Amino acid sequence: MIDGKAFAAGLVESIRADVAVLKASRFIQPGLAVVLVGEDPASQVYVRNKAKQTVLAGMHSVEFKLPAHTPEPALIALVEQLNADPKIHGILVQLPLPGHIDSTKVLDTINPDKDVDGFHIINAGRLAVGLPGLVPCTPLGCIMLLTDALGDLSGLNAVVVGRSNIVGKPVAQLLLAQNCTVTIAHSRSRNLPDICRGADILIAAAGRPEMIKGDWIKPGATVIDVGINRVPAGDGKTKLVGDVAYGEAQGIAGRITPVPGGVGPMTIACLLRNTLTAAKRIEGIG
Ligand SMILES: NC(=O)c1ccc[n+]([C@@H]2O[C@H](COP(=O)([O-])OP(=O)(O)OC[C@H]3O[C@@H](n4cnc5c(N)ncnc54)[C@H](OP(=O)(O)O)[C@@H]3O)[C@@H](O)[C@H]2O)c1
Repeated sequence: MIDGKAFAAGLVESIRADVAVLKASRFIQPGLAVVLVGEDPASQVYVRNKAKQTVLAGMHSVEFKLPAHTPEPALIALVEQLNADPKIHGILVQLPLPGHIDSTKVLDTINPDKDVDGFHIINAGRLAVGLPGLVPCTPLGCIMLLTDALGDLSGLNAVVVGRSNIVGKPVAQLLLAQNCTVTIAHSRSRNLPDICRGADILIAAAGRPEMIKGDWIKPGATVIDVGINRVPAGDGKTKLVGDVAYGEAQGIAGRITPVPGGVGPMTIACLLRNTLTAAKRIEGIG
């Protein structure tokens, strides 16, 4: 099992140490602003968690909770205010936004150098052409777990199931940058089980509970399960499962991330890492 929770805890600890040095030696405290619009319960939990972890890492944390009916111009004005705020090095606008707000317009208002989610079109472009930028947190977390587990990924066959702008496409770009041979599969792909069977590295990011069966996995392959799906657990309760049938895959894969406790904790750790990276770049350090 690849223990994402333990790896993320170690990463947060090293970020905390870096932040402490930055504060002591340069009097700089990395700052993250998180903006939530509306009352979506899952988003409220994410935002609370992000703010808590930011403070634990020794960073300056600011939260903005705006009502669901906030007009788009007001949200854009807030982002512009944060762009100009020297205490803020990272800006995260929690998605999804209410339907009357154009998410792309809002995300593209964020200063790309403060875009710690890595969703700005400039950062997507930088990733595509191999320039340094800010990389989306979940894909970054996947690559960190993979390189920690396998070392050099060069020449390995990687299959990514899913092609979203948030996970599938950026993780495929990062694997390519690591010299993998990359296949991107999606809902129109033919013969998905056979495509998966060719993978030395299989990244599941389809959002389909336990879709990937044990016999789709090459023996010894490394499986990174990004999916987070809430399903009935009986007794009226629910539980979280990934996109991979974990019980079946366990005995076949060489290494596999569990859900929960795999990729999930890496996402917040990488958000903190991106905030530290942004702070250093903005302040002209390293
Ligand atoms: N661990 C974390 O921190 C984290 C972060 C982000 C997301 N997630 C989870 O990761 C999963 C994916 O998220 P996302 O935002 O990328 O989702 P998304 O935007 O819904 O994209 C899903 C992708 O999977 C593909 N797909 C759907 N059904 C498929 C099937 N039956 N066969 C093959 N491909 C299929 C879709 O193909 P088409 O393009 O053809 O429609 C699409 O490209 C979700 O469970 C989400 O909750 C976890």
